Amino acid sequence: MSTTLSVLAELRGIHNCLQALVERLDEDSLRRQYHPELSPIGWHYAHCAHVEKRWLLGEILGRWKGLGRDGARYLPERAFKPERGRRLPPRERLLRQVRADQEQTLLLLSGMADRRLPEHPLLENDYLPLFFLQHHQQHYETMLLVLAQRAQARHRHQFFPERRLRPAGPETEFVALPACSYPVGGERPEAFDNELPAWSPELEEFEIARRPVTNAQWLAFMEAGGYENPSLWSEDGRAWLQLSGARHPEHWRQDARGWWYGILAEGPYELHPDFPVHGINLYEAEAYARWAGGRLPHEHEWEAAHRLHALQLVGVVWEWCGNAFFPYPGYEPFPYTRYSQAWFDGRHHTLRGGSLYTRPRIKRASFRNFYLPDKRHVLAGLRLARDGSGRANRPAGSGQPALQLVHTTAESA
Ligand code: AVJ
Ligand code: FE
Repeated sequence: MSTTLSVLAELRGIHNCLQALVERLDEDSLRRQYHPELSPIGWHYAHCAHVEKRWLLGEILGRWKGLGRDGARYLPERAFKPERGRRLPPRERLLRQVRADQEQTLLLLSGMADRRLPEHPLLENDYLPLFFLQHHQQHYETMLLVLAQRAQARHRHQFFPERRLRPAGPETEFVALPACSYPVGGERPEAFDNELPAWSPELEEFEIARRPVTNAQWLAFMEAGGYENPSLWSEDGRAWLQLSGARHPEHWRQDARGWWYGILAEGPYELHPDFPVHGINLYEAEAYARWAGGRLPHEHEWEAAHRLHALQLVGVVWEWCGNAFFPYPGYEPFPYTRYSQAWFDGRHHTLRGGSLYTRPRIKRASFRNFYLPDKRHVLAGLRLARDGSGRANRPAGSGQPALQLVHTTAESA
């Protein structure tokens, strides 16, 4: 059984991206843990190679019993995070090993290796190479997040933006969708288990903002005392606020004049007023929504609106949704329970869309990301939603739901 050439080429592509990112880093940067949530970059690299071996050599060929030592190093559930950097092989050996493992994967999948892969359900319709591809693409994004943390740690406050970021009101344009059943979910073979099976939940009428909340709008929230006003925050949010002392998005800094700028992997940069804000967690997103007279969208409201091409600036920042990550009716764990099922714990929240660091394949209408409410290192922002005002009528029959533009401000709710 061999993999479609275009999928193999894409897998090679992400291998090359991972390699290029790792090759320009020295020993210390590969091993260092820059953030309590983020593994060292070298670990992500080795983990991706390990995942390929675990499935191809372990599961399908039954020839690799290396889970003992390597499992304890490279399986997230078995490798203690603060130990991950120390236990990596030296840089040169790591790079050589991973490259050799990647070559072996491509040879096996192409059907050109001496060892032939047997018929196996995981190989049907390119399922496994598509899984590798999208798994690695997510780790690639996380590695860029590590580089963003590294840039922040190294930054010496030598940046002066050319233009001052000014606040802007929370006014935003909403689009209204009628009560209806809307199709959601992914398609085999590229969908992850949590996107399946596709189904059509009933939604109440709702309104959702055309665009995500911007930097200028976030600054208005800050200057209006949003971080100091407990009534805007949930109970958990208040506890987090007190503990963290946060007063602005994670990667925002102020120069000597008090002008705001941001720092990402590429270094310090100007905060464009109309660019979607990110660097905020779920608690901050909820507080903003309350301040602006809205709420966070349910992930299915988001998906329904996106499928109707009603949303602008999708895929620039991850967007926090108001609901916890949950299994769709008929969900079955695949290819392993820890991919999704372990996180249906009522605490993780879904995020939709994708960020500037997300690879195109992940940026699909049905893709569901998930993080705990206090995480703010993941390039996530928000888009407002609110309950329908009764102006949108249910369409007759089961035709396409009618979209309606609502020109009102968020504040008027
Ligand atoms: C869905 C991005 C939260 O990176 O922890 C990677 C994806 N799962 N390897 C993560 C994932 C297993 C996951 N996120
Ligand atoms: Fe992984």
